[in-house]
Amino acid sequence: MPRMGIFDAKPYDREFFESINREFLFDLKFFPGHLNTDTVELAKGCDAVCVFVNDHCTRDVLERLVGLGVKVIALRSAGYNNVDLRAAYKMIHVVRVPAYSPNAVAEHAVALILTLNRKTHRAYYRTRDNNFSIVGLLGFDLKGKVAGVIGTGKIGQALIRILNGFGMRILAYDKAPDPELTKEWNVRFVDLDTIFRESDIISLHCPLTPETQHLINEKTIARMKPGVMLINTGRGRLIDTQALIEGLKSKKVGAAGLDVYEEESEYFFEDFSDSFIPDDVLARLLTFNNVLVTSHQGFFTTEAMTSIARITLENVKEFFDGKPLTNEICYRCDSPVCTKKTEGRCF
Ligand code: NAI
Repeated sequence: MPRMGIFDAKPYDREFFESINREFLFDLKFFPGHLNTDTVELAKGCDAVCVFVNDHCTRDVLERLVGLGVKVIALRSAGYNNVDLRAAYKMIHVVRVPAYSPNAVAEHAVALILTLNRKTHRAYYRTRDNNFSIVGLLGFDLKGKVAGVIGTGKIGQALIRILNGFGMRILAYDKAPDPELTKEWNVRFVDLDTIFRESDIISLHCPLTPETQHLINEKTIARMKPGVMLINTGRGRLIDTQALIEGLKSKKVGAAGLDVYEEESEYFFEDFSDSFIPDDVLARLLTFNNVLVTSHQGFFTTEAMTSIARITLENVKEFFDGKPLTNEICYRCDSPVCTKKTEGRCF
């Protein structure tokens, strides 16, 4: 059976992949480190590699993988900004898991909203210290407040459904607005400026692209409502973190829930509790009690992990069975010139 090297493999990845692989019988090799120019040689003997969000598939890494005989890269994520798709085109196939549990990420965004609003992260520590004061824990009713959802794909829509249940008014911005959402969930599609001006809570669910990089920056923060809550479960670089810190210091930003961070690849998913964080920007963020950082765990539910392992192994099986690749991506996939649908494979 083909051998697949799984990079950045944590114990939970091993557990889910080994369990689902009983049906597929691939030869799985688990590597705990990230895939990069220093570690790429580990892929020697592998027919496929499986990577996660902080494994960087640069041109150099891709060329060396091909040189080692690797034929397909299986992303066990939806986002693919960590792969140089232009370099990969016609060199190596790239498949991904486009959706595993949009609810998992949307529900995590809601966890961040509720925690920051009702300050349960602070209450938890207070009561454990026999401090039963509620001074400083004042929140607000979500009912009737305005949520601005940027990116109304699978996760954005799952969030909209939940926030509707709270009775929030929902504004949305998407490059391709879906009129069904307006009909079904009373969503008002508006321009970005209106989102910034009118929202009490802004949640980011668009992909990271050159267009969306630093979408939240000094200028856009200046246009927001005083005390706005920012939630980012998308990608770290959607927010200019230094601008966010200035916004928090001036109290323009009332709270921030961040499941992703611009420079997360150095830290997220790793344990630094016996060490220190050399990144002064992250360290500063962690000093605000109205900032909640979680380390890219939005996807981390049993349902999503099961789905990720299954779809990844199905993607790789399709490749080695010579079948059309349901979840292949290439740099042209978003454009009208993409021929994938007619040919079954991107090249
Ligand atoms: P999706 O592809 O279903 O939806 C993305 C939406 O963003 C689409 O409706 C698209 O039209 C829109 N969009 C594209 N460019 C835009 C722009 N410039 N401005 C506004 N909207 C734009 O993707 P899905 O599954 O909803 O995921 C969204 C993002 O969430 C992913 O790109 C990924 O970065 C992130 N993600 C985070 C996870 C976590 O664990 N924190 C897990 C999975 C995804």
